[in-house]
Amino acid sequence: MDARAKTGVSIRSAGKRYGPVVALDEVSLDIEPGEFVSLLGPSGSGKTTLLGILGGFVQPSSGSVWVGERDITFAPPHKRNIGIVFQNYALFPHMTVGENVAFPLRARREPKAGWARKVADALTMVELSGFEARNINQLSGGQRQRVALARAMVFEPQLILMDEPLSALDKQLRETMQIELRRLHRKLGATIVYVTHDQREALTMSDRVAVLKNGKLVQIDTPERLYDRPCDAFVASFIGEATLLDVSRAGDDAVRLGDALLRTAHPLPRGERLLLAVQTEKLVIDGGATTTMTTNRLSCRVTEVLYQGESLRVFAALPDGTSLSLRQPGNHDARRRIPSPGEPMTVVLDPQDTIVVPA
Ligand SMILES: Nc1ncnc2c1ncn2[C@@H]1O[C@H](COP(=O)(O)OP(=O)(O)O)[C@@H](O)[C@H]1O
Ligand SMILES: [Mg+2]
Repeated sequence: MDARAKTGVSIRSAGKRYGPVVALDEVSLDIEPGEFVSLLGPSGSGKTTLLGILGGFVQPSSGSVWVGERDITFAPPHKRNIGIVFQNYALFPHMTVGENVAFPLRARREPKAGWARKVADALTMVELSGFEARNINQLSGGQRQRVALARAMVFEPQLILMDEPLSALDKQLRETMQIELRRLHRKLGATIVYVTHDQREALTMSDRVAVLKNGKLVQIDTPERLYDRPCDAFVASFIGEATLLDVSRAGDDAVRLGDALLRTAHPLPRGERLLLAVQTEKLVIDGGATTTMTTNRLSCRVTEVLYQGESLRVFAALPDGTSLSLRQPGNHDARRRIPSPGEPMTVVLDPQDTIVVPA
């Protein structure tokens, strides 16, 4: 195993202030060697600042950054052995593809004799073999982004940082590139830290996702854990299509929503006033004989059915008027189960899917 495969990254209580603005607030994060970690959060949440601290272009106001046993907090970017890919490619337009990819080798004063081989290998990795002599302006957006990737990988960095690298691409290409990047990550074995504001992209690509809000790390977890077990209302509403409903505690393992009692398979947070975070696809329309549960059933009235192609979104009102939303597959069998607007409906929420967060 080479050194790269064994080197993790550790951020310890990193903070960054710009005058009165706290861009990053005491963030600690351990990234395993070879892990793909996404930093996810709305605009201004501190993602780029945290990436900059890792890359060495932002000096933290407090805290430290470690690669393996080495404290790199104040090491300049070119001493970090880190590959970087930005949103807008940042390729040199006057250089060929080959010259662009060779640039980090030149900057690192690597022996010239090895450049051609390394450039060819990096281009093969991103499926652009033989593109060395092309000009940048002859390439499509997706090809340019792949050149940027090849340039970030050519010197075999232990860590690759990416700041919204796909956000300039159209939806279809973005999804193709997500799959390619994932595949590339498996092949390379390098550690990748990936910034995105797109929750779906983060879930698709990452081993773990770190959710940031106002410069704070709110939750870091696997995509499944993050989606199924959000730690608070912010994460629940930022991921997926959750509805948040006011509920009150009803004992150790249940909450009350209007007249309905909902049992949960998970520990309840403290407090009497709580929030139920329910994702659209977790509510199941009760077909009558589908369940014998006496709890976890909600009576409501359908208010609107929106056809959205692969699925339908159904809006319903609880007896007190609170709105509920659920998603049903677009196939005809599922569609037949959806009552028309104005009709009553009973939905069931499995105790495993009954997620309660602090209010
Ligand atoms: N160079 C800077 N000078 C002043 N404020 C900055 C600077 N860079 C970032 N900020 C502020 O820090 C906060 C976090 O920014 P940033 O890390 O770019 O967020 P994100 O990448 O999540 O959109 C924002 O409030 C932003 O305005
Ligand atoms: Mg940013």
